[in-house]
Amino acid sequence: MPRIAQEIVERVREASDILDVVSRYVDLKKRGQNYFGLCPFHNEKTPSFSVAPVKEIFHCFGCGIGGSAINFIMEYEKIGFVEAIQRLGEQYGIEVQFAPEKGGRELFSNLYELHEMATTFYHKNLFSEKGKPVLSYLSDRGLEKEILEQFKIGLAYDTWDDLLTLAKKKKMSNEVLEKTGLFLKTEKGTFDRFRNRIMFPIFNTSGRVVAFGGRSLDPKDPAKYLNSPETPLYKKRDLFYGLQSARQPIREHGYAIFVEGYMDFLQLFQAGIQNVTALSGTALTEHHGLQIRKFTNRAVLAYDGDDAGIDASIRAGYLLLRVGIEPQIVRIPDKMDPDDWVRKSGVNEFRKAVDRAVPVLAFHIQTKDATSLPPVQRSEFIRDVVFQIAGVNDGIIRDDLLKSLAQEMRVEEGELLKKMSRQKQRSPKEPFLESQEKSDEIKLTSKVQKAQIELVRILAGQDIDARQIVRKKVHLELFLEPVLKKLAKLVMPIYDEIDYPAIIDQFDLNAERKLITNILMAEIDVSNLTSLVEDCILTLKAHPIKENIKEMRIQIRELETADKDPTEAIIEVAKLQEELKSISI
Ligand code: CTP
Ligand code: MN
Repeated sequence: MPRIAQEIVERVREASDILDVVSRYVDLKKRGQNYFGLCPFHNEKTPSFSVAPVKEIFHCFGCGIGGSAINFIMEYEKIGFVEAIQRLGEQYGIEVQFAPEKGGRELFSNLYELHEMATTFYHKNLFSEKGKPVLSYLSDRGLEKEILEQFKIGLAYDTWDDLLTLAKKKKMSNEVLEKTGLFLKTEKGTFDRFRNRIMFPIFNTSGRVVAFGGRSLDPKDPAKYLNSPETPLYKKRDLFYGLQSARQPIREHGYAIFVEGYMDFLQLFQAGIQNVTALSGTALTEHHGLQIRKFTNRAVLAYDGDDAGIDASIRAGYLLLRVGIEPQIVRIPDKMDPDDWVRKSGVNEFRKAVDRAVPVLAFHIQTKDATSLPPVQRSEFIRDVVFQIAGVNDGIIRDDLLKSLAQEMRVEEGELLKKMSRQKQRSPKEPFLESQEKSDEIKLTSKVQKAQIELVRILAGQDIDARQIVRKKVHLELFLEPVLKKLAKLVMPIYDEIDYPAIIDQFDLNAERKLITNILMAEIDVSNLTSLVEDCILTLKAHPIKENIKEMRIQIRELETADKDPTEAIIEVAKLQEELKSISI
């Protein structure tokens, strides 16, 4: 792949005026500050495609697409970045020369080399004098030397640039260093991304390290886990942790066990259960499903035993059904994860549980106690399940599922069939990739998420005074959604005009760009600003306390049913309620 010098990219970026670029393709009419027209990327009769000339970005409120002038050309002409720069260069009379030919292959081999170097480096640290406490922490957690060696577990010291110093010796370009995702570029300079963390190298199926997961050693660190960002080597949507070693065992056993975490994986693998693989922090996608189907068509999901894990396993279960994998679910007791459980009760308990794993539908009905729900919820439950079943491609499996649902919930199968055909009419089946694209959409609709959006919208807005009001009152920790936090972090330090296309450039995923352009497109209503901001902050500060109270209430109920004294928990709830009342902004 040819490369263009960064300086030329910048010149083209500066020269291309979004309004000028887009209006060559779309008929635009001015409305307020912005321009509107019919979206060239989806079919519509009323214009929801808009261009913000001041911000130099576009966004369609209909289909969500958005970005800079360069993104527009790429999408419209279906061309890559380099070609888009060339086109725009031509248009604006900027000669676009290629930097000295540097093959794409070279980029990849450099990226691999740096990952290999980092793996060796971190791994050595773990077995060094300074690594002793961490090594003994891992051994207390039951991990033996052999497993740490097999999976090249490592340690990043609590320093700023150990790895960077090492990498610089390799004399690779800044571009390569940046693309590894192993370093962080800030205004203050470039630093190691991973510090004071246990390092889990993530291998691709051919056994090369393409990314890292890092577990914090500081219990106070807000990010317990930090993973590499997506890079040319690392696409999260279909990578499993440990699959390089598990693929053969998976083939032999005829099924794969899915767990959530690195520690779960290592614990099971070490205990001899080797047909196991971990999702490590990403939700299961259809791409994952297709990837695993190369090895087996049966999966046993052993997610964490907390509510989040249970719900995620049900979702993952239906998703696997859709891509033709037969899913069964294991219930891990007492909110433990497989790691905790195996350490507490031994691997044989786990094996037995795998043997007793339940098909997703039955598991769903059991855990939600669906047969004894009141009528309205019961009907909602059935509707949701029918919706999931409708997505299954294989007609035989679909019919079986529908039959089981009818039996278990004691409803007429005919009734379910009717429901299903109604749903199908409403949502015609989309080709796989398109539906993938859709499900990639980031939906942020809860009150807590909306409050974050409001705040970041103002922070990223054009009203400098409004930005200052928010900046004074919020901390980055209030942003729980990673994408929003990232955006807030990018715009917070900017006190003058924001370079919007540059901000958008920081978001690689389509889904993220859709969300971000939507947020950046908004104009801020400054009336009632202070009270709006205060409401949002209140919502966000109250949220963790409310969650705590919910959690405690469950505990109280559990204590009561177990005939234990709940007084302490009740006092805790009272305390939390006091805390809730005394939140200040
Ligand atoms: N994870 C992640 N990013 C996060 C949180 C979690 O990638 N911000 C992934 C990690 O792969 C982690 C898994 O999700 O292993 C499960 O998370 P969690 O249950 O919080 O951690 P454990 O694996 O149980 O870690 P530990 O036992 O060390 O606390
Ligand atoms: Mn754990």
